[in-house]
Amino acid sequence: MNRATSGPARDHCLAPGRAVDAPPGGGRYTRLFPHLPPLGVDSRLVHALGRAGGACDSATCRRGESRTVAAGWPVFGQYVAHDITADRSPVTHHDDESLLRNVRSARLNLECLYGDGPVAQPYLYSRRDPAKLLLGRNDRSRHDDLPRNQEGTALVGDPRQDVHVLISQMQVAMIRAHNRLVDRLRIDGIPEAQLFAAARQALTWHYQWVVLHDFLPATIGRERTERLLAEGPRYVPRDQPVAIPLEFADAAYRYGHSQIRDTYRLRPGGPSLSLFPDLLGFRPVPADRVVDWRELLPVPGGPPPQRARPIDGRLPASLVHLPPDITGALDDADHGSLAVRDLLRGNATALPSGEAVARAVGAQPLTAEETRLADHGWAGETPLWYYVLKEAEAREDGERLGPVGALIVGEVLVRIVDDDPGSHRCVDPSWRPTLPSREPDRFTLADLLAPHPVAGCLPVGMSPATAGTSTSRLTQDVGHRTG
Ligand code: HEM
Repeated sequence: MNRATSGPARDHCLAPGRAVDAPPGGGRYTRLFPHLPPLGVDSRLVHALGRAGGACDSATCRRGESRTVAAGWPVFGQYVAHDITADRSPVTHHDDESLLRNVRSARLNLECLYGDGPVAQPYLYSRRDPAKLLLGRNDRSRHDDLPRNQEGTALVGDPRQDVHVLISQMQVAMIRAHNRLVDRLRIDGIPEAQLFAAARQALTWHYQWVVLHDFLPATIGRERTERLLAEGPRYVPRDQPVAIPLEFADAAYRYGHSQIRDTYRLRPGGPSLSLFPDLLGFRPVPADRVVDWRELLPVPGGPPPQRARPIDGRLPASLVHLPPDITGALDDADHGSLAVRDLLRGNATALPSGEAVARAVGAQPLTAEETRLADHGWAGETPLWYYVLKEAEAREDGERLGPVGALIVGEVLVRIVDDDPGSHRCVDPSWRPTLPSREPDRFTLADLLAPHPVAGCLPVGMSPATAGTSTSRLTQDVGHRTG
């Protein structure tokens, strides 16, 4: 496929809402701490921290790797971000926040995968088997890519799912998971008319489970997660419909930008490829770029996966120099740095300082020695996004979020599942994953994206470890729905 070389085709940071992925009316954002004053950061600090050569640029220091976080986790973190928040306003805006629209619903409901469903977006689905999502063929005629139109543009529920190869390959793995569920449910005797909805619900519940029981413990710590799941969130308002707080979308949940590596190996013995330009998306993915998820996620008995970078306030070169395919043409070259954009967003939405949030939730604020903003001539408090990164570095050695970051991220993710009337925690709190897992009673992201080769042959609900002892069927997943 020939790509146009005359200039950026899309601005994926600023792209205006398009009919394909803008739900009618759009959602609004909310605030966790409306009573706290905005920090109002000097634009000189934004640029000193965020631009190429600034404090966030990993080129200015030596960085190690995380000891515990596999490189696949931030990719999944980004997948979750795309499922729940999309603010398409220009990065330079200083609008009234009531004008901001979240074009995703604040639910872990995989709308980036399913779009508006087979009726509204039939081009995402197989014509031969309409309960299944469509896969595209790559240069070796294997169904290992997203479906694409004749210009190579992905047919996908949200264009951001094709921004780089790692995320588009994660989407491919999720499509496969859905299609496997359709096959299983058919074997279980679910009527054809109910197959799509049943498979969608089963996948969505497994995904929600992975977010709450695998991703969240790795991101905010196991103890915090268990407390939150048992006691419920304290700060996220119980609004109906639930909305994403700006402190989450424009600061805390952008922590993952610091975990991204400069290079990735996609398969055993394969070359190290830069995120950009090597793994840039928006074009067909050749067979030699197909991701083997065991390289990026821990699998019992498998080789150690590549590691994420620590959360430490620094970003890799690929994100400090975003390609024009992502940013579009820029008036200010510094807006090509994702760190500058993250800081500008927090300013534009008038977020409070990290120290102010820490005081409000009874956490010990970072000291000036820990934030080191004086090195950049700034005597004030710390922008929330940068604070969350430095807090993770100072309090958790970069392995997971510290108290402020963990509170915001954990509370929002638990709240949006708890307040979704279709989630497993609302419909059936006693539900447990029924897809095969490698370890008994522990269903992981790797089980979802890279199932054990034997697992595909096992009755669903059985782990390779317990084959022969279980009799559960997938229909247990969907009994509530299918009656
Ligand atoms: C390869 C990696 C990634 C790239 C290239 C990327 C790129 C971007 C870009 C260009 C934006 C828009 C910036 C703006 O104008 O405000 C953005 C926003 C965002 N990113 Fe990332 N990102 C990556 C990974 C992640 C990860 C790992 C996470 C979280 C774990 C994350 C969470 C977010 C969030 C929450 C937003 C705001 C989305 C919205 O509300 O519209 N990103 N990212």
